[in-house]
Amino acid sequence: MLDWTDRHYRYFARTMSANTLLYTEMVTTGAIIHGSGDYLAYNEEEHPIALQLGGSNPADLAHCAKLAAERGYDEVNINVGCPSDRVQNGRFGACLMAEPELVAESVDAMKQVVDIPVTVKTRIGIDDQDSYEFLTRFIGMVSAKGCTDFTIHARKAWLQGLSPKENREIPPLDYDRVYQLKRDFPQLNIGINGGITSLEQAKIHLQHVDGVMVGREAYQNPYILAQVDQQLFNSNAPVLSREDVIEKMVPYIEKHLQQGGRLNHITRHMIGLFQGLPGSRSWRRFLSENAHKQGAGIEVVRGAIDLMNANKPAVDPELER
Ligand SMILES: Cc1cc2nc3c(=O)[nH]c(=O)nc-3n(C[C@H](O)[C@H](O)[C@H](O)COP(=O)(O)O)c2cc1C
Repeated sequence: MLDWTDRHYRYFARTMSANTLLYTEMVTTGAIIHGSGDYLAYNEEEHPIALQLGGSNPADLAHCAKLAAERGYDEVNINVGCPSDRVQNGRFGACLMAEPELVAESVDAMKQVVDIPVTVKTRIGIDDQDSYEFLTRFIGMVSAKGCTDFTIHARKAWLQGLSPKENREIPPLDYDRVYQLKRDFPQLNIGINGGITSLEQAKIHLQHVDGVMVGREAYQNPYILAQVDQQLFNSNAPVLSREDVIEKMVPYIEKHLQQGGRLNHITRHMIGLFQGLPGSRSWRRFLSENAHKQGAGIEVVRGAIDLMNANKPAVDPELER
């Protein structure tokens, strides 16, 4: 998720779950090929990790897939679900649902140069092209070129008139359509995405499909990740407390600070760790107000914990809202 799942967030997520597949933010082929930064940088601890690419030129996508494989990514995913204007101007994202031939050609070009899985994230439709036949035609053509893994955001996108945020909220979710897709393409790995906010919900979806992708909840309430391994991957590892998670982050934060990084680059992703608990507001506020300051160090994190513990109200006003 753009601006959210950067490498600091992913490291943080990985402290809680060893098995969850983590995705990068969408990185455009243009940025990788022409940009000056290293858009493929990640921490070794982040594995298993998928690079999500935005693009529609098969040669460029293949080039970037090859770079990703060389850098050790475990998977490369094409974004066919983002409806933003900027992305449409670049002729990629959700508008590519209307061009299954091009997506198929891209998958083909990428698969010719890498051995890691080439996967596609898409929606159930775009604009008035929202019939089940439209979706199955897309999946049929792209899978014919060797893509075996699809994640489906279970709502369509309106390419005009709705903001990306509205396009994550207004078009209704249709999980049954994704379940139907799995029944009609049993040989494919079909993952479902959209509006999933608990592991209980995830388990229900897993009775119908092969995978579950959680977006906003995994960011805004990241502690949901702490029991994924135990509940979904049969792990016997102990479940970490939130405080354990913070302690696991301390060496990473200190290294980042030593290298001249800012504290809030990391802590901004940790703001939701105590989501829903008494005192969470103190944690959030203290970090927001202090972690961006010049020279802010690990003492700010410790200060936020202390303040939270000191300010735990008998009843959290936030929960009463
Ligand atoms: C801030 C933000 C950035 C996002 N960026 C991306 C992105 O780069 N690539 C992508 O495939 N989806 C992106 N999404 C969409 C999510 O991956 C997901 O499909 C959507 O939020 C629905 O799932 P959820 O209800 O679990 O959040 C983004 C969502 C948000 C909130």
